[in-house]
Amino acid sequence: MCGIVGYIGDKPVVDILLEGLEQLEYRGYDSAGVALKTASSINVYKAQGKLGNLRDVLTAHLSEVSHSSVGIGHIRWATHGAPSVVNAHPHTSNCGDLVIVHNGIIENYKELRQELEDKGYVFKSQTDTESVAHLIADIYAQVKDLPKAVHMAAKKIQGAYALCIMHNEFPDMIVATKRNAPLIIGVGSGEYFIASDVPAFIKHTKKAIYLKDNQVAVVQKSSSLLVEDENGKQVTPKIEELPWEPVSLSKMGYKHFMLKEIHEQPDIIRNILTGKIKSSSSEIVLDEVNLNVDSLKKLNRIQVIACGTSLHAAMIGKYIIEDLCRIPVDVEASSEYIYRNTVTDEQTLVIGVSQSGETADTLTAIKQSKVRGSHILIITNRPDSAMAREADSLLSVNAGIEVSVAATKSYIAQLFSFYLLALYMAEIKGTVEEEKLSELKFELLMLPQKIEQILTHKDDIQKCARKYANTRDFIYIARGINYPTALEGALKLKEISYINATGYPAGELKHGPIAMLDETMPVLSILMNGSVYEKLLSNSEEAKARNARMIALTNSTDKKLDELFDDIIRVPDVAEFLSPMISIVPLQLIAYYIAEFLGKDVDQPRNLAKSVTVE
Ligand code: F6R
Repeated sequence: MCGIVGYIGDKPVVDILLEGLEQLEYRGYDSAGVALKTASSINVYKAQGKLGNLRDVLTAHLSEVSHSSVGIGHIRWATHGAPSVVNAHPHTSNCGDLVIVHNGIIENYKELRQELEDKGYVFKSQTDTESVAHLIADIYAQVKDLPKAVHMAAKKIQGAYALCIMHNEFPDMIVATKRNAPLIIGVGSGEYFIASDVPAFIKHTKKAIYLKDNQVAVVQKSSSLLVEDENGKQVTPKIEELPWEPVSLSKMGYKHFMLKEIHEQPDIIRNILTGKIKSSSSEIVLDEVNLNVDSLKKLNRIQVIACGTSLHAAMIGKYIIEDLCRIPVDVEASSEYIYRNTVTDEQTLVIGVSQSGETADTLTAIKQSKVRGSHILIITNRPDSAMAREADSLLSVNAGIEVSVAATKSYIAQLFSFYLLALYMAEIKGTVEEEKLSELKFELLMLPQKIEQILTHKDDIQKCARKYANTRDFIYIARGINYPTALEGALKLKEISYINATGYPAGELKHGPIAMLDETMPVLSILMNGSVYEKLLSNSEEAKARNARMIALTNSTDKKLDELFDDIIRVPDVAEFLSPMISIVPLQLIAYYIAEFLGKDVDQPRNLAKSVTVE
């Protein structure tokens, strides 16, 4: 992960770098650093922890740094070496002249390190990045040409990287390159910005170049930009107009972004619905799907690949598509998919699901399936992302920027996209009767107001959550289409409260997990009316018989529940098929209120990052 920024122009660079890094905090936040060109040298400033700590360091050196107008910066999510000042970027070569910031993983760093140590280079950090600093410096010492040294070093590096490099002998130059990691150059008037992502510079310019893998960009203060391909041949880069508006990210009065984003969910669904379903009797419009009727009918398999929360949306997607479209669907974690000899061909539709559109494992999986001839459909919240660029069909979920690291609104938007996609394909394939289709569309149209009803009763959910805030473990059980909801509810709780929460298909309890149950263990049963209601009720009885603390999340008015459960969270009635859209909302709130009550850093939980660009 990690975020990179760079600037070269006439403005004071410190503010630009700090503002840029702030926008990239979603990529990591365990340490940060900048390298600034000052009157006589390049100075490096670093701090462990959140960006505020780096801000304090720079404030203490204001007189040295305030006139600088060239610099690079970095915000880190540790991969190699603990979060510490010494492991924070920028890293400096032994000669002290070259500094570098890096996002990605250098896979052959151990070999490079050995080779460089044998030559006498001394390493200060445990990072993979430092080997690249010494490698480029070593080559530069021989060829005396910085871009050439970067090209030559790139040929020796294995892995993924986006790099920005500065050198004392070229005080007004930044060299940048990338492979399998994002790097964008913002083109201003007489100034250039370099960043891992657009928000870092969008308030300054909307013109940008998406650097391609293995290209090397040389950005100079004389207002020149040179881009070379991997062989060093100059190419004319495509300057794109970004379809972005600068957004000021505000909590709008909520204590945390997560709570605000949970509250945005009804409107997000309304937005997605606009133009796609007008009424329960009109056809679904999904122009984004570029599969013609013939190819759609010929599909014999769908594979959905994703990670984390997106994987849970994908798992529910399987239930939805198989039920409505009668096509077999396999769902797999991208990190597993890429190391398997999967049966994927031209008749397989491969769906990649990713909030960020940058997740390395999913991106690799998508590229692999593309080579095998599959149609690639991407469901993402970032239509400008690397995954979106690989898409044959792009379903942009339009949830707006999600700041909180724990995904909430992007999840519900992904889930909703699966309903639309499945209904659309079912209409074309004729696999569902007209009457059922219109019932489902009617229910879909009702979802925003049902979610609003849950949010109106959030105080009750808060009270319930607080009762369980001091537990060490938490079990979520469900069956059928809500089994992935149990997984997602548990993931939300563990990632922001650090409570050991696990989701199980309730039928599996008796095959092992039931051994853990006693009077200390909360068991939350996602008990939605429908085909598995009675079965899940029996599984809940089994848990109650082991003295577990029982909580029901239900749309049932069944009186029996009052005896069985210690706490009952009621949600509006909804068809079983659509219930994951409703049942997830109280689970997001429970996770939020427990973490908030425990005083955790809700929006930026430890060890996590919003965009996982390392495998
Ligand atoms: C959890 C969460 C992660 C992501 C996962 C995949 O709240 O957000 O589990 O879902 O890292 O990320 P994307 O969806 O960007 O591919």
